[in-house]
Amino acid sequence: MSLKKSTSILQNKNAITYAQRANSWWSGVQMGPPDVILGVTEAYKRDSNPKKINLGAGAYRDDEGKPYVLSCVRKAEEKLRSKNLDKEYAPITGSADFCKLSIELALGDNSDQIANGLNATVQGISGTGSLRIGAAFLNGFFPGNKVVYLPTPSWGNHIPIFKHSGLDVKSYRYYDPKTCGLDFAGALDDISKIPEKSIVLLHACAHNPTGVDPSKEQWAELSQLIKKKNLFPFFDLAYQGFATGNVDNDAFAVCLFVKDGHKIALAQSYAKNMGLYGERAGAFSILGESNDEAERVLSQIKILIRALYSNPPINGARLVTEILGDAQLRSEWLQEVKGMADRIISVRTKLRDNLKKEGSTKNWEHITNQIGMFCFTGMNAQQVERLTKDFSIYLTKDGRISMAGVTSKNVDYLAHAMHEVTK
Ligand code: LMR
Repeated sequence: MSLKKSTSILQNKNAITYAQRANSWWSGVQMGPPDVILGVTEAYKRDSNPKKINLGAGAYRDDEGKPYVLSCVRKAEEKLRSKNLDKEYAPITGSADFCKLSIELALGDNSDQIANGLNATVQGISGTGSLRIGAAFLNGFFPGNKVVYLPTPSWGNHIPIFKHSGLDVKSYRYYDPKTCGLDFAGALDDISKIPEKSIVLLHACAHNPTGVDPSKEQWAELSQLIKKKNLFPFFDLAYQGFATGNVDNDAFAVCLFVKDGHKIALAQSYAKNMGLYGERAGAFSILGESNDEAERVLSQIKILIRALYSNPPINGARLVTEILGDAQLRSEWLQEVKGMADRIISVRTKLRDNLKKEGSTKNWEHITNQIGMFCFTGMNAQQVERLTKDFSIYLTKDGRISMAGVTSKNVDYLAHAMHEVTK
């Protein structure tokens, strides 16, 4: 074909594409980037290497690397089946029993706040949906600065959730890359400079992505500072039970702040601690000064929910209600949460020891010092890229490893690969 002819075909093709585009409503829509966390799973699925490992999204796996359905959940499913329940709409605010059991799980059965009806609690769509309801409420009604301060770094979805609701997002220092631990002095310094009546987001336990939590004494100091500065604390409690294996220990910070007189906002999720990822069960609460205030707050949250998604899904909340509301299932659940947390703690030790065995001279103590589902390894973006390209090990670019995906079978391979890319 002559050059002239091929050029004219090309021009023609371009012209058609242009004409088609000009007629389309969506010609201006640019391709969006993959999600920083869930996009990792998509890439993992496309890889055919039998040795591949997915350490991206925080979803618990058993020691065979398989998704894990808790036995208390299976039993709750059986119980629900035998009840032959209908599929009517849930109330806008979700199941009342579920809401009560959820706030009790966070604040304790003997909480004065609950006894006095100070909590406005609604069922949310897992942790994300609960945060989003909270963000929408704060954007509409928070009487101070509509700015939320997040720790640096924070969960990859926090910024989009708060921005999407219309709030402004700023940050405070949290993690110290030099020590792979908490920058407590930096956090105190930054929080002390936040303008009064702003919102500060706190990870209640098992900080995501760093696995670095303040100590009890540090939480006490943070509580005093946040009170002195008249800031509004919004707790994200997505890993209750996963940090220490004990749900009460993991609610320490939330309970301390409440005891110190803070009227908090709280988002809860049952994705991790009950393994109910796809069931989307969660809760959002605000504590008011009086029962009347809590009821007014609840009435406004209800209006927001009705416009956003009308009412929440029923199945996950029913499962949670069966488990938390039945002494036998509840105690089985508490053991299973501890089992999951303990398995993660044991693979942390294995990974750290294997890195040493591989001959790594780097300090990997933070692997066992950090807690919860994640380890913030300190690997940089190039090292992460090599892990993925040369070893088919998938993780987020910030060097976060979901420890839940590490098993006694893949830990040697992982340690070898990590040593190769960091030596
Ligand atoms: C994570 O951080 O990996 C999890 O919370 C899953 C998610 O939705 O991002």
